This record gives sequence, C-alpha cells and structure tokens, in this order.
Amino acid sequence: MIKIAPSILAADFANLQRDIQRISTADYVHVDVMDGMFVPNISIGIPVVQSLRPTTELPLDVHLMITQPVRYVEQFCDAGADLVTVHVESDTGENILEALRKIRAKGKRAGVVLKPATPAEAAAPFLELADIVLVMTVEPGFGGQKFMPDMMPKVAALRAMIDGKNPGCELEVDGGVDLNTCRTCVEAGANVLVAGSAVYKAENIPERIAALRNCMG
Ligand code: DX5
Ligand code: ZN
Repeated sequence: MIKIAPSILAADFANLQRDIQRISTADYVHVDVMDGMFVPNISIGIPVVQSLRPTTELPLDVHLMITQPVRYVEQFCDAGADLVTVHVESDTGENILEALRKIRAKGKRAGVVLKPATPAEAAAPFLELADIVLVMTVEPGFGGQKFMPDMMPKVAALRAMIDGKNPGCELEVDGGVDLNTCRTCVEAGANVLVAGSAVYKAENIPERIAALRNCMG
C-alpha cells in the first residue's frame, strides 16, 4: 500500500490547524524542521510539533534537517512525533546510531535521510535500527523544487537493501513529488510519498491525495 505524507511546509502557517484537517485522508503529516545550519532555511520546531499533536490523529512524520539531531530527538518524541528521521550527513555515524536508539527507546519509529549527493550505501550501517529510510529527491531546505529523476537508481538500490536486511522498513521519497513523478518513485520501490506543493496547491485536496496514492492505476 502506498502512503501519502503531505508536507505542511506548503501549508499556511497562520492556519496550520485548518490545513492539517484538510489532509485528514492522508497517512502521515510530514513536518519539516530546519535549523538554518544544516540547511539554508529556518522553519518550525518543538513547540509547533507540540501544538499540532492534538489537532490530528495522523502520525506525525518529523523530518529533522538540523545539525547533530541527537541533541533534540527525545524532545521531538515527547512533543508528539511518531516518526523521527535524521540526516546521515548531520553528524558522526556513532551519533546517528545514538539518535536512532534514543527515538526507539521513546517507543517511536526512527529513520535516516539521504541528501541527493549521498549514496545508498551510506544508509547501510543504520538499516537494522531504521523503521524508515527517506531519499531526498531535491536538495533539502525548500518546498516547490524540481524533482530529481536521477535519484531513482538510489531508491531501487535501497529497496533491494531493505528487502534483504529489514523488510519491514519503509522507503520514503521527498521533494518535487507530484502526479507526474509519483509513478517512477513507486516503480523504483518507494512506498511513502511526501508531497507539499502537489497536495496544498490542489483545488480538491482529498482527491489529490487519492490520485497520488493511486499513481500505479
Ligand atoms: C524540503 C522538504 C520537503 C518539501 C517538499 O527540504 O524536506 O518535505 O516540503 O515540498 P514539495 O513537495 O513542494 O517539493
Ligand atoms: Zn521533508
């Protein structure tokens, strides 16, 4: 089953509760956290996750684009995150492992994220502890960018690694995913699609979520 995770980066930040209720037919709420260091942009943080928690029953999929996320993962879990993903480029391997352990110790799902220039193999040391692997299909930092089709071999390689080592692990793609690009992602092996602009710019949001979920027809 394909899961859809609308990114609230494309929502109206003055009306987040309303915009989260608009995506109630989705599978996850994708929350992009940026610190102005790991990526050249600043978005939202722990208090916003905490305020969003009671507004939806959907799992909160918190994508941490921050330096040394091990410092903050427990606070995001306590604030109500259900899945917390950390970039493999954001710290040493040891600290990334520690971050995953801390998330799991809180009873939450943990994952690693790969930037476009990072090869599939970089996820290998973390696969055993990962409930989800996220492949960026744009440079992290901003919504509304163009999808990078050249990431598809990496998605396929990760699908093979996951099937071999940890078949329960989910495989998510993020960036520029829309009605034109969703199919190639699923064909490559992704089962969770993040979509910001493609969902929030739609005239009929539930219809768009259903169309993305049905991209294989
Ligand atoms: C980019 C974020 C994405 C972004 C996706 O750094 O991680 O989640 O919001 O937005 P779209 O779907 O518009 O590319
Ligand atoms: Zn994201």
